[in-house]
Amino acid sequence: MPIVNCVAILVSCALAAAREISFPPISGFAEQAVFGQSGIDITTGSAFAGLTTYANLPYVHCLAGNDEEVEKYDIAILGAPFDTGVTARPGARFGPRGIRQGSRRISSEAAWSVYTGENDFLDWAKIVDCGDAPLTFLDNTVALKQLDATHKLVSGRSANSTEYPTPRIITLGGDHTTTLSALRSTHQRWGDVSVIHFDSHIDTWDPKVLGGGISHYAGVNHGTFLHIAHEEGLIRNTSIHAGIRAPMVRPKGDLRNDIRCGFQMVKARDIDRIGISGVINRLKERVSGSKVYISVDIDVLDPAFAPATGTAEVGGWTTRELLSILDGLAGLEVVGADVVEVAPIYDNPGETTVLAAAEVVQSLIRLMVAQPVEAMSSE
Ligand SMILES: *[C@@H]1O[C@H](CO)[C@@H](O)[C@H](O)[C@H]1NC(C)=O
Ligand SMILES: *[C@@H]1O[C@H](CO)[C@@H](O)[C@H](O)[C@H]1NC(C)=O
Repeated sequence: MPIVNCVAILVSCALAAAREISFPPISGFAEQAVFGQSGIDITTGSAFAGLTTYANLPYVHCLAGNDEEVEKYDIAILGAPFDTGVTARPGARFGPRGIRQGSRRISSEAAWSVYTGENDFLDWAKIVDCGDAPLTFLDNTVALKQLDATHKLVSGRSANSTEYPTPRIITLGGDHTTTLSALRSTHQRWGDVSVIHFDSHIDTWDPKVLGGGISHYAGVNHGTFLHIAHEEGLIRNTSIHAGIRAPMVRPKGDLRNDIRCGFQMVKARDIDRIGISGVINRLKERVSGSKVYISVDIDVLDPAFAPATGTAEVGGWTTRELLSILDGLAGLEVVGADVVEVAPIYDNPGETTVLAAAEVVQSLIRLMVAQPVEAMSSE
């Protein structure tokens, strides 16, 4: 008898789930009726009320089972709270919530750009926040497998647009190791991509040089993931770094290996010589004709503009320079992107870093909205 009851309950639960999809309420009250209180409107008015999603976007349970129906989306914001692949200060596991906190002031109905006159939240693309991938904090191998599976699921649903049926993901890191999972799912959906990698560090270090001397496990970290992405055949040899200034471990070997992994570089101080438009031209020329993944390590910014990061390096770009460069990339076929290495514990009371990171995410959204991309023909 108990077994029969149990089965009956499961069936009725499943039927209820199939009948009606209910989305948890989000920040703000737009989707839920609130009791009227003697003429005082308590249903609208604040971007700071309610639970926090990126830019007060609707939350969608993107990790529901593969066969379950969820609200459709074209661009998904996905958190990757993982920071056990770092070589310096930890804390980026709180990056996703930090970036969301930095984005609280942004709301879709009041996001008209003074530079472009456009509002990317009210354009053709439906943009949602999927919350975070559930990642164990005790085993990096398992955590990255969890992140691989999450990316696969989130990128595998059909988009809201029928014309461009593959949704794109912007990942909120997490330390930079998390980009490896994103590149795996991007490769699966879109084929080879060129990477535009904003960072003060090259991150193509040979695992034997950075960490892997101890164990294979230690070799998979936030300074080697681009080497591994190259070895796995995920990225094109038309990739480029931007903002590099951190020292090399070996006098020549690291740079030789970097070229072998398919990268050129724009160094941080190059901007003094060639200017913002010069940087934009170098990046666009390098990746022209290919699909692009943009990874922004927040440490590309000078610590004056982004103190809250794991491996800060002085002598970096300003927030305005970075935003201008990103906006200058409009027209590229950006199929995936991330902002990583935001470690809010080191931020200041003015939230300098998370405000910058939130704005960078908005620039990445702008690039995706500006240029819809056709997926590979289905295999
Ligand atoms: C999503 O799809 C629906 C149905 O096709 C369409 O009406 C809507 O304009 C699309 N875009 C957004 C942003 O909701
Ligand atoms: C880059 O890759 C292409 C094909 O994927 C290959 O033909 C070419 O030789 C490579 N170039 C370099 C410099 O490795």
